[in-house]
Amino acid sequence: MQATRYVGQRRKPDICPFNDQEFAVSRPPSQSRLLVLVSGTGTILQALLDACADPGFGAQVVAVGADRDGTGGAARAAAAGVPTFVRRVQDSPDRFAWDKALTADCAAFDPDLIIAAGFLKLVGTEFLGRFGGRMLNTHPALLPSFPGIHSVRDALEHGVKMTGCSLILVDPGIDSGPIVAQAAVPVLDDDDEESLHERIKVAERSLVVAAVGRMVREGWSVDGRRVRIGN
Ligand code: GRF
Repeated sequence: MQATRYVGQRRKPDICPFNDQEFAVSRPPSQSRLLVLVSGTGTILQALLDACADPGFGAQVVAVGADRDGTGGAARAAAAGVPTFVRRVQDSPDRFAWDKALTADCAAFDPDLIIAAGFLKLVGTEFLGRFGGRMLNTHPALLPSFPGIHSVRDALEHGVKMTGCSLILVDPGIDSGPIVAQAAVPVLDDDDEESLHERIKVAERSLVVAAVGRMVREGWSVDGRRVRIGN
């Protein structure tokens, strides 16, 4: 299979690896446009906002979207002067309509890269048709172990001694996309779900900032399941 290549510093049509459709990467010459999706407190979003304060990072957060009202993430975005929007599933007639509406919400900001940072919804075919191959999700476990919403609890209950976090490209499955970056976090004897998740999130914030920064500055390629940042 031929590698699909994405380069951060240009405008040209590219191919979505999940449906072979062309999409146009549309961006200013030196700053990539990030759109972050959140459902919760938004500490990973905050790490990205902080990183983007340095022009050398190579990106700006142009919008933050949430699937519910009153998220800490939206408050952080507003405090940083970043536009926000909310797209609740219950306001759409069905999940397909929600997916289509979310796609339009995001497309309006013309993002180069979408980052689901604690976003507790799966996107559908419309969304991936538009943004597949340039949507990231951060997950608090070392995938492919412990996919799903209770990954920290599942890892703890399984008794693993090492867990961590994964940054993946989103595909149609549940936490099944190609892995971009991972970091390991040891499990301590007296950890509970909360303490372990908090330590994972420290690693997660660094991982996401480092990987996204490299992706926008150096580009990336996907060859089967293997993702390579830079040349
Ligand atoms: C992260 O651990 C993310 O992987 C998980 O939810 C957490 C989000 O944290 N899905 P925050 O809202 O960025 O603080």
